[in-house]
Amino acid sequence: MSEPEGAAAHRSETGDAGLRTFLVTGANTGIGRATAAGLARQGGRVYVASRSREKGEEAVAGLRASTGSDSIWYLPLDLADLDSVRACASAFLARGEPLHGLVNNAGVVRARGLTKQGFELMFGVNHLGHFVLTNALLGCLTASAPARVVTVSSDSHYSASGIDFEALRRPERGVTGMHGYAVSKLCNVLFSAELARRTAGSGVTTYALHPGMVASDIWRRVPWPVRPLMLRRMLTVDQGAATSLYCATSPDVAQDSGKFYDKCAERAPSPVATPELAAELWKRSEEWTAGS
Ligand SMILES: NC(=O)c1ccc[n+]([C@@H]2O[C@H](COP(=O)([O-])OP(=O)(O)OC[C@H]3O[C@@H](n4cnc5c(N)ncnc54)[C@H](OP(=O)(O)O)[C@@H]3O)[C@@H](O)[C@H]2O)c1
Repeated sequence: MSEPEGAAAHRSETGDAGLRTFLVTGANTGIGRATAAGLARQGGRVYVASRSREKGEEAVAGLRASTGSDSIWYLPLDLADLDSVRACASAFLARGEPLHGLVNNAGVVRARGLTKQGFELMFGVNHLGHFVLTNALLGCLTASAPARVVTVSSDSHYSASGIDFEALRRPERGVTGMHGYAVSKLCNVLFSAELARRTAGSGVTTYALHPGMVASDIWRRVPWPVRPLMLRRMLTVDQGAATSLYCATSPDVAQDSGKFYDKCAERAPSPVATPELAAELWKRSEEWTAGS
C-alpha cells in the first residue's frame, strides 16, 4: 500500500498508526471522524463504525478523498441495540484482520429514552454498548497485541457523585439531561480502569480521556442563541481528536494502562472512580448483557 500524503509529517507529531488496524465508533462525524482521519493520515487501516449507513458511507468517501487513503471502510453499529453491537463485532472478525486499536468514541448527551434492551439511553450508548463491543473484540485485540482500547470520556465525569444502578433501567429524569451524561462518562473511566486490570500483562493497554470542549454536533440539542455563542469558544474537531490520537498511537504511553488523559497528558480522574466501583460496574454490565 502506498503511503498517504502527509503521513510522515503526521507520524512524527503524534505516533505511528502505520500498517495497523483501527476501529473507531461514531466516526461519521465530529471527534470520531477527525480521529479516523488522523489515523488514516498516519497510514492506519480504519473502520468507521456508525449507526447510519448513509452517513457512514458518506464519511468513508469523504475521508478517503481528504486523506488520500483507500484503507477506510464502513461497519454498521447501533450502540443502542446490543444485537447490532454484536453483529458489528462479528462483521469485523469475519474479515480476519488483526485489531490494534479500538476507539470507543461514539456518544450522546442530553438524550432521553431507553435502549432497545431497556437501559437509560446515555448509559446504554456511551457505556454498555462499548462494554459489549470491546469484550466481543478482546480476543482479537489480545491476539493482535500490542493493542490499545481508547475510550472517550469527558471531564463531565467529575460531576458524578456515584452510580445509582437502579436509575440505569429507566429514562433520565433530570431537567438538563446532564446528570445521566456525567454518570455515563464516569462509567467510561471506570470501564477503562477495570479493563486495564483485567488485561494486565496481555499486551492490551487502555486509555480514557477528555477531548476538551469541542464544537461538534453533540451540542445539537442546546437551543439558539446559546449554541452558536458556546461553539465560538470551543476547540475544532481536529484539536478535539488530538488526545484520542495520542492515546491510540503515541509511543509515550505504550507502557501505560488504565489512566485518564486530558490535553495529551495524564490527569487524575475523579476520586469517585475507585477500583471497587469499577469492579461493581463490570459485574453489573456483565450480568445485564449476558442474556440480552
Ligand atoms: N464535543 C465535546 O465538547 C465533548 C466533550 C467531552 C466529551 N465528548 C465526547 O466525545 C465523543 C464524541 O463526541 P462528539 O463531540 O464528536 O459528538 P458528535 O459530533 O455528536 O458525534 C457523536 C457520534 O456518536 C454517534 N452515535 C450516537 N448515538 C449512537 C448510537 N446509538 N450508535 C452508534 N453511534 C452513535 C453519532 O452518530 P450520528 O451522527 O448518527 O448521530 C456520531 O457519530 C463522545 O463520547 C462525547 O461524549 C465530547
